Amino acid sequence: MERSAIFYFHYLHISLVIAAANNINTTDQQALLALKARITSDPSNLLAKNWTSITSVCSWIGITCDVSTHRVTALNISYFGLTGTISSQVGNLSSLQTLDLSHNRFSGNIPSSIFSISTLKILILGDNQLSGSFPSFIISNMSSLRANDCNYNSLSGELPANIFSYLPFLESLALSANNFHGQIPSTLSNCKQLQMLSLSINDFTGALPKEIGNLTKLKELYLGYNKLQSRCINVHYNSS
Ligand SMILES: *[C@@H]1O[C@H](CO)[C@@H](O)[C@H](O)[C@H]1NC(C)=O
Ligand SMILES: *[C@@H]1O[C@H](CO)[C@@H](O)[C@H](O)[C@H]1NC(C)=O
Ligand SMILES: *[C@@H]1O[C@H](CO)[C@@H](O)[C@H](O)[C@H]1NC(C)=O
Ligand SMILES: *[C@@H]1O[C@H](CO)[C@@H](O)[C@H](O)[C@H]1NC(C)=O
Repeated sequence: MERSAIFYFHYLHISLVIAAANNINTTDQQALLALKARITSDPSNLLAKNWTSITSVCSWIGITCDVSTHRVTALNISYFGLTGTISSQVGNLSSLQTLDLSHNRFSGNIPSSIFSISTLKILILGDNQLSGSFPSFIISNMSSLRANDCNYNSLSGELPANIFSYLPFLESLALSANNFHGQIPSTLSNCKQLQMLSLSINDFTGALPKEIGNLTKLKELYLGYNKLQSRCINVHYNSS
């Protein structure tokens, strides 16, 4: 083969690798720009100034990328003072492990696409104005989930019976200060790693499922300010 042909093939190969990497980056970039587009108030201009398509998403404020794949693994924009809704395109961040949108003024529903990010370990949406309910089939797809904090929102509806069917690694679930009602599902006892459960300040009714006694790692249980039948107080077990 002629030298120029070898050079050409080599060059072509590099171009294709770069194109593939850019495609992946473009998916994450488009998802984040879609999130930014739904922000109606960004008082400190944190996203407005920093999240620009001329720089790599990996250098954007609040973003962490995997060093080798350059995929976005963490999105943390807590305490940015943002107002807006959550774009369903966030679900396209398919390598995301940590999503923290807490302590902002996000309203509207939690897009169901977020619950299909199977790599997600930490989902923190607390202290916003989110509404709507949790569809069961969705949560049970999140088999990597370790922590879910949706405290202090306006989420409502019942927790579907099979919501906890397959969350084998769930350590912490915080749904306090919302408008949930209905019974606490007994399938909660499937979450064998559960250490902290906070369901206080809702409208839960019925009896606390006795299967909760099967959760040997449970250290903190907050159930106060509900309409539960059994005498309910906040319990804090010593970890000893
Ligand atoms: C965006 O913010 C990050 C983190 O604060 C900073 O390192 C980066 O230089 C900023 N980029 C621009 C274009 O301002
Ligand atoms: C997100 O960032 C804040 C600081 O800005 C930090 O306190 C918090 O722990 C981070 N969240 C996660 C899940 O790491
Ligand atoms: C991103 O997400 C939206 C809505 O969830 C979807 O319609 C679209 O096809 C996705 N785009 C890519 C590039 O995956
Ligand atoms: C869980 O608790 C229930 C009721 O207390 C009991 O009947 C059952 O055997 C327990 N299951 C396991 C796997 O420990």
